[in-house]
Parts: sequence; C-alpha cells; structure tokens
Amino acid sequence: MNKDVMILTGAGQIGMAIARRIGYGMKIVVGDRSIDNAKAICSTMNNAGFDTVPFEMDLSSRESILALIGEAQNYGDISMLVNAAGVSPSQASIETILRVDLYGTAVLLEEVGKVIKSGGAGVTISSQSGHRMPALAPEQDRLLATTPAEELLSLDMLRPDNIRDTLHAYQMAKRCNVKRVMAEAVKWGERGARINSISPGIIVTPLAIDEFNGPRGDFYKNMFAKCPAGRPGTADEVANVAELLMRPQGAFITGADFLIDGGATASYFYGPLNPDAK
Ligand SMILES: NC(=O)c1ccc[n+]([C@@H]2O[C@H](COP(=O)([O-])OP(=O)(O)OC[C@H]3O[C@@H](n4cnc5c(N)ncnc54)[C@H](O)[C@@H]3O)[C@@H](O)[C@H]2O)c1
Repeated sequence: MNKDVMILTGAGQIGMAIARRIGYGMKIVVGDRSIDNAKAICSTMNNAGFDTVPFEMDLSSRESILALIGEAQNYGDISMLVNAAGVSPSQASIETILRVDLYGTAVLLEEVGKVIKSGGAGVTISSQSGHRMPALAPEQDRLLATTPAEELLSLDMLRPDNIRDTLHAYQMAKRCNVKRVMAEAVKWGERGARINSISPGIIVTPLAIDEFNGPRGDFYKNMFAKCPAGRPGTADEVANVAELLMRPQGAFITGADFLIDGGATASYFYGPLNPDAK
C-alpha cells in the first residue's frame, strides 16, 4: 500500500522531535550523512510505532539529494519535508558549513519543490544566529534568494576571503536559508504546497553540546542564562512550532521564518545580552 511520505534530513534531536510529532501514519525516509545516526533514530521511532527507513546521504551533494528523493518516491508521494541536517560553527570548516548548510539546503528545497504533493508542506531549520547578524543590502538578499543554487558559492559575499570565521559562515548560511524559503514558497505555491523555516535559539542537542564545549562555550551559556526565558530550549518545543506550520492550521503561512529562542535575540538587541550593555 502506498503511503504519503515524509523526507527527514538530519537524524538529530530536532528532526526526530518534529517527525514524531507529525509523521505518524506516514512512511518516513530518514536521510543522514551518518548512517548510524539514521539507524538509531529509525530504531527508536519504529519501536514507538512509526514506519521509518534509514538512508545514507550527503546534503552537500545534489546527486545524493536526488537519490534520497528517488528512494522516498518508491514508497509513495512526498507530502512532507523536514530539513534538520546541518553542521554548527564548532563542528566544521567555513567551506563545509557553506556547502552543507547553505548550498545543500538550497538544493534540497529546490528539488523537493519539484515533486512535492499538492497540499504538502515543508520546514527547514535555520537559526537565531542569522537574526543577530546585521541586515544585508537589498541586492545581497536578492542574490541569496534567487541565484541558481549551483552559482551560490561563487557569489562574492560567500567567497572564503570575504567570510571572517565559521560563525560568520553559519550566519550567512542561515540568512540564506530564510531567503531561499521566501523564493521557494512562490514555486511551492504553484504546486499547492507550502514551505517555511524555523530559527531556533539554543536547543539542547548533540550539536548544541558541541558548542557548549567549543571555543564559544561561555558565550552560549551566558546567552541562555541571560535571555528572558533563562534556559535553553528543547527539541519538542521546536516541534510545537513545526506542528503549526505543517498542519492545515498553518495553511495561510508560507515563505515565513519563525524565531524560537527564549527571547535571546530580543535581549541581544535591547537587553542584557547586548554586547554594548553595561
Ligand atoms: N541545537 C541548536 O541549538 C540549534 C540552534 C539553531 C539551529 N540549529 C539547527 O538545527 C539543525 C539540526 O541540528 P540539531 O541540533 O538537531 O543537531 P544534531 O547534531 O542532533 O543533528 C544534525 C544531524 O545532521 C547530520 N548531518 C550533518 N551534516 C550532514 C550532511 N552533509 N548530510 C546529511 N546529514 C548531515 C548529522 O549527522 C546529524 O545527525 C541544524 O541545521 C542546526 O544548524 C540547532
């Protein structure tokens, strides 16, 4: 029997929380560069009554993304996309961050957008990090939104000598995610489908724990201690937002980005997290 299919990229805590919240009754194809991560999530979910299958793939490769989509189509029509694959500033080089988080996300949204079922919905995980970077010029935003994916990494602003460090690369990637979602929402809309992004603050996952233990560890710990919520978030709280965006209640929401950060960005601009605050 054919089922509606969800593609989940990134077998991490955020991806699993979203898939558990909305993926019941569907076939869920779990793509990850680490097949062990994909198998672990699939085992947890299958033991809880879900129908998942692991698939080894690399978000930074169009060929690999197409293979994942092909695998998903073996089971039925693709009606949901959850993109929660990514690398953080403490985990990877500038080149890898741009290739995975920026280019890979752009290709995934483009390719799934060509086959998504009418009525379908997608969500990609961006980051609060993109929100605290100063605004780019309108022309730079337009280039991030609309440059063909294969030419993105040749843009002047993304050339390695114009990227200060891995945090800057991550911020540019996440800013680009939000812009691509806006441009893709127009195309997904032509198929009767919707695409949005979520920008989480600090959510306790292996990726965040790598950040706590990395060179910016104190910065991150201070961030959640001084944000209005006074704590880091959980993957299940991100799933609360994803559920609204993916379900019919969110039918009027597309091409949008949702910040869920316990108020850390607000405090960064206008509160005790402001770098210039006394
Ligand atoms: N945890 C946080 O605090 C936080 C905050 C903001 C944004 N995010 C974003 O959320 C997303 C998910 O992060 P998480 O915290 O659940 O992390 P996680 O480490 O639990 O999961 C990320 C998964 O992505 C996979 N992955 C990495 N590179 C890949 C590639 N090239 N191809 C396929 N899979 C790849 C990893 O193997 C891992 O299983 C990321 O995009 C991250 O930037 C996380």
